[in-house]
Amino acid sequence: MKFNPISLEALKALSAMVGPEHVVLPAATADMLRYTHDETEDLRFEPEVVLKPANATEIGLIMKFCHENFIPVTPRGAGTGLSGGALALHKGVILSTERLNRILDIDERNLQATVEPGVITQVFQEAVIARGLYYPPDPSSRGSCFLGGNLSQSSGGPRAVKYGVTKDYVLNMEVVLPTGEITWTGANVLKNATGYNLTQLMIGSEGTLGIITRIVFRLIPYPPQNLVLLVPFRKEEEACAAVSKIFMAGLVPSALEFMEREAIEWADRYLNFTIARPADERAHLLIELDGNEMEQLYKDAERLYAVLEQFDVGDILVADTEKQKNDLWQLRRNVAHAVKANSIYKEEDTVVPRAELPALLKGVKEIGARYNFKSVCYGHAGDGNLHMNIVKAGMSDEDWNNKLQEGIREIFDLCVRLGGTISGEHGIGLVQRPYIGIALNEVQLRLMRGIKNLFDPHGILNPGKIF
Ligand code: LAC
Ligand code: ZN
Repeated sequence: MKFNPISLEALKALSAMVGPEHVVLPAATADMLRYTHDETEDLRFEPEVVLKPANATEIGLIMKFCHENFIPVTPRGAGTGLSGGALALHKGVILSTERLNRILDIDERNLQATVEPGVITQVFQEAVIARGLYYPPDPSSRGSCFLGGNLSQSSGGPRAVKYGVTKDYVLNMEVVLPTGEITWTGANVLKNATGYNLTQLMIGSEGTLGIITRIVFRLIPYPPQNLVLLVPFRKEEEACAAVSKIFMAGLVPSALEFMEREAIEWADRYLNFTIARPADERAHLLIELDGNEMEQLYKDAERLYAVLEQFDVGDILVADTEKQKNDLWQLRRNVAHAVKANSIYKEEDTVVPRAELPALLKGVKEIGARYNFKSVCYGHAGDGNLHMNIVKAGMSDEDWNNKLQEGIREIFDLCVRLGGTISGEHGIGLVQRPYIGIALNEVQLRLMRGIKNLFDPHGILNPGKIF
């Protein structure tokens, strides 16, 4: 791909499109810093300029100009991504959606809401809960991530197990194409059999097909009651095996999260909590049941206990105050941060059919033993979506830089053999790009490249990602 650097003239033209006060240049070192990285490992790439447009019209002008001048553009939400999707790999423009941050409408008659992409996920969730409505997708970063980024990555989170992921709540969106054209992708309806599904094509496209400028979500009524339990297991694989048994008993928890002992221990230390756990507890399931009536939840909990009795479990902690529930969720949501604070690491986002989880966990430990790496596993067990933090620990630099890739390749091969794939919710971005051929064949890749080419003939939008 041949791109042009941004000339002084081009910079003037681009600055005029957003207004000079909404431009960040490398000379503004402190301001620029946060746009050079996302949450992916320790990767850093500095763009030539950061532009912060206010609306779709300005984004359209920027895209048209960059398309005509072969200038790369990397769209960016809050920068909480874990696959490097928002990194300006080929320099050029970082296009930040941070100023598009309004909730435009909450339509209680139709249970829909229209928002801009720079709204923080939790802010949106709280705004709709205040009206008795629910937007369930809740990635761990929900306190800081943007809805636009959630769409771009097809984000999931703990509640996906009952309620589905981000894509299941999107009805329609306005996008600016790489050429500068502005279009809606669908209609504000619950059913739509009108042509190809451009909405779903755009979701999870990691900012390579267009820039989202408005989103129409569907909402559901808010379930006001919940029960949160922490269930300790004496064998990691039994915690994984219990997962599919819970569904087979007819239960659908609103969260079913797995944490290896170290995941919970490191998060506990990171947060300065003191949820001390007996030494024989090797793994935990954090289980949430939700609904309208407590009485029903207690009945469900009894059925859950009947399933858990088949396994070697320790004392089950039932959170009985809001604070205790929050603390348990805080622990879970901070595992990634805790690992990051602990060691150099690489985070994998594997996913398999849920009954294959025990085989996946066993396989990863076995591969780790052969390649001499340690892994801290946790994640959305109910979805078969296991996050693996591979920590450098005692590994030599040589092994870390050169051999580890083969180990990761083995993990991904195993996922595919088990009927799974290499990313459930973090995306391919930059860091999983070398491995995409493990999960997708030549026919699939040819179709995807063709789509990319149709949307972005000059290849300027988020170049170097996915393929
Ligand atoms: C989580 C993020 C890392 O589940 O996906 O905590
Ligand atoms: Zn996750």
